[in-house]
Amino acid sequence: MAEGPAKRVLVTGGAGFLGSHLCDRLIADGCDVLVADNFFSGAKENLAHLAGHPRFELLRHDVTFPLYVEVDEIYNLACPASPIYYQHDPVQTTKTSVHGAINMLGLAKRTGARILQASTSEVYGDPAEHPQTEDYWGNVNPIGVRSCYDEGKRCAETLFFDYRRQHGMPIKVVRIFNTYGPRMRPDDGRVVSNFIMQALRGEDITVYGDGSQTRSFCYVDDLIEALVRTMATPDDVTGPINLGSTGEFTMLELAAAVIELTGSASRLVFAPLPSDDPAQRRPDTTRAETTLGWRATTPLREGLARTVEYFRTAGAL
Ligand SMILES: NC(=O)c1ccc[n+]([C@@H]2O[C@H](COP(=O)([O-])OP(=O)(O)OC[C@H]3O[C@@H](n4cnc5c(N)ncnc54)[C@H](O)[C@@H]3O)[C@@H](O)[C@H]2O)c1
Repeated sequence: MAEGPAKRVLVTGGAGFLGSHLCDRLIADGCDVLVADNFFSGAKENLAHLAGHPRFELLRHDVTFPLYVEVDEIYNLACPASPIYYQHDPVQTTKTSVHGAINMLGLAKRTGARILQASTSEVYGDPAEHPQTEDYWGNVNPIGVRSCYDEGKRCAETLFFDYRRQHGMPIKVVRIFNTYGPRMRPDDGRVVSNFIMQALRGEDITVYGDGSQTRSFCYVDDLIEALVRTMATPDDVTGPINLGSTGEFTMLELAAAVIELTGSASRLVFAPLPSDDPAQRRPDTTRAETTLGWRATTPLREGLARTVEYFRTAGAL
């Protein structure tokens, strides 16, 4: 029997870190993939290996403007994720989340596509509850330097659920916690890339605060699996669903692992904590486990080793 036409999937922000890995996965799954990206924090090089693939297309497009294409599924990932990038032009960051959500939801409404929003653990702000469940409403500063990202993402979630309530659309919202892996930008100021780059260059490793603040780190392959599983859930599964690793590490533990894996002679130096930096953040992933049958499984050292290898070989140094 002949196979049906390939599923047409739009990935906004597909030239970024997570988006490019998602494209690899969707192409491997036989989908027809269209990326819309303005290359603000992403790069064509992340997708260079897919150029010329018969089921892949790359469009330079800013999601703050409407897009008219025919698709079956939309993964809305467009938005700079690291503070250096999202604070560079904070008004544009809010627009990307809010106008971007409106435009993509409008597209989903017109085409009948399922649509998934890449939200973030930042919607919990500096949480007063640990670990965070999806029912926690968060503790967010509305007027700080991180607010363009946090509040933009919160408003995007509101829009997704209002489109669901008003128009009965098949929406999915996932709240992504710290994810790392190959194709992170070496200069994006996130802790994993910072530590690895400093270690590989033999520079001092900068630890903010006393290094006792904890984070949970999810390897990119695990996260992509969760995104694909979420999209495949029945229409009544809307989320929000926390996606991340539950293993907690202090910054000092992370730094020690990076030094060991890189064989670096770097020493630790301590700097003041940036404002609004949460002391601890860890997801409760019970909902992901029960709804998706998913949990992050890649051990930190294994994921770090692959990431170190990428930074060593990708010309990042
Ligand atoms: N990586 C993480 O740990 C993490 C955690 C929480 C949430 N997220 C979310 O996942 C998504 C992807 O994150 P990432 O780590 O891959 O970040 P990234 O910065 O590497 O990718 C974002 C992509 O969106 C593009 N983009 C930005 N503004 C745009 C606009 N107006 N129009 C079109 N494209 C635009 C960028 O050029 C980039 O390619 C983001 O929405 C982010 O908020 C990521």
